Amino acid sequence: MSDDLTTLRLRVNGETRAVVFPTHHTLLEVLREELALTGTKHGCELGECGACAVLVDGRPVLSCLALAAEMEGREIETVEGLQIGNELHPLQATFADLNAAQCGYCTPGILMTAKALLAENPRPSGDEIREALAGNLCRCTGYHKIVEAVDWAAARMRGEEGTPPAEVFYGSPVPDAPRV
Ligand code: FES
Ligand code: FES
Repeated sequence: MSDDLTTLRLRVNGETRAVVFPTHHTLLEVLREELALTGTKHGCELGECGACAVLVDGRPVLSCLALAAEMEGREIETVEGLQIGNELHPLQATFADLNAAQCGYCTPGILMTAKALLAENPRPSGDEIREALAGNLCRCTGYHKIVEAVDWAAARMRGEEGTPPAEVFYGSPVPDAPRV
């Protein structure tokens, strides 16, 4: 085997995957190109946009800056592992319900970063959500819906009663304009 290739067993979404890749490749490249896990997005590849965020041992990591060769024995989670059986993760369900994704390019990184936040802090304030997601750029939404969706997902995960107001659900009829 060439000196330029590394062979590893990576733990990804609870499975052990044998993989051979050029030694200098990033975790982002190996996830997408060797393991066909294309949910994790290429953005800037400079550590500035958060589109490539995955969890490594439960903590958000920018996979464009991490060498795959250093990931042996670590537990890697990508957006493909969020769903639980046939059930969407509460974060996924709430993002869909509230239309917190538009083009969706930033969404996998945001979901993974939010998952780590809620594991550490099940009742984050709006400011804490915004701070946790400060490294995840979104060009479409203006962030309000994203923060709202993480807040409601946290409530659902705590088992609290209640649903967001009907008018914030995706597809809700637009209220009649006031008569003048
Ligand atoms: S692609 Fe990794 S931070 Fe932008
Ligand atoms: S939904 Fe388009 S970049 Fe965030």
